[in-house]
Amino acid sequence: MLPAVSYAYVAGGAGDEWTMRENEAAINRWVIEPNFVSGHPTTDLTTTLFGSRIRMPVITTPMASHALFNTAAEAGTARGTEQAGSIYVSSSASSQDLETIAASSNGPKWFQIYFPADRGYARELLQRAKAAGYKMIVITVDATVISNREGSTRILGKPSPNSVMHGGNKPKTPGINPEKAALWKADLNWDDVAFCGAETGLPVIVKSIISVRNAMQAVEHGCAGVWISNHGGRQLDNTSAPMTALPRIADAINGRVPIIVDGGFRRGQDVFRALALGASAVALGRPILYGLSLGGASGVRSVYQHLETELQMVMQLSGVPSIKDITREYVAPHLPA
Ligand code: LAC
Repeated sequence: MLPAVSYAYVAGGAGDEWTMRENEAAINRWVIEPNFVSGHPTTDLTTTLFGSRIRMPVITTPMASHALFNTAAEAGTARGTEQAGSIYVSSSASSQDLETIAASSNGPKWFQIYFPADRGYARELLQRAKAAGYKMIVITVDATVISNREGSTRILGKPSPNSVMHGGNKPKTPGINPEKAALWKADLNWDDVAFCGAETGLPVIVKSIISVRNAMQAVEHGCAGVWISNHGGRQLDNTSAPMTALPRIADAINGRVPIIVDGGFRRGQDVFRALALGASAVALGRPILYGLSLGGASGVRSVYQHLETELQMVMQLSGVPSIKDITREYVAPHLPA
């Protein structure tokens, strides 16, 4: 059984948890429009995302502090993701250091950064990520202040068990104070996003885009992709669900860059509907940590396997041979009777 602190951390959200619930509810405002008599079977779930061929368009979203869930920690999640043939996105707020996580699997890995207030530490983290072999930088933009997570606060007296120092990635550069390094930049701006690319030469994706405005700005500033998310309802409560924001952001972006989406996706049916509305891939959060909790790397792999079986079934019943064939014509708005 998970300790109460760990469970409150993974299961909880911000404020009234309206957005957290809305993330799942909004998916069901779209229904699948299947073609049962298509004349062909589903044969291919693979996709290529930023140069990596993966078994299906589902990846592991960045999440902090996996040691709260299993002693295998992030290395376990990374191995499970590799075994599932997908991409592991490592949180800068990990329990293990980014080099240990990078060495734990041969699968494709990206590095997510909470941009630190200390620019020297930002530089160090980015350079270490590049040296360790991470292939993309994902900058999360909706955590310039920690939110009102009342479930964790009731148990712990603070909104997050890891809000002081996120364990793994302690600064190595002489002269950087670890407590100061743990502070995230409050006045985050587009120069900070550009810094991530300039320091590493790697493509940058902006994560936690929920408005058309920020999505367009990300593209204008040369980002390689847009990651629609509201942090699983853990940061700003009462924002839209990703599934509500997705069609309008996809229309505005108009195919210029790939879109990743996370928040509330649990089943093959959910992944299918997101792909139909314009996502290139869905990122999975809480289900991965529940898999890790129950079975380490193989628990993570089994979450992926379950989803793959289900997505194959949904595509087969919808009459869609491969991922690229999943278009908007396969979904419709759900209208109350
Ligand atoms: C989370 C990040 C802020 O708990 O660590 O969602």
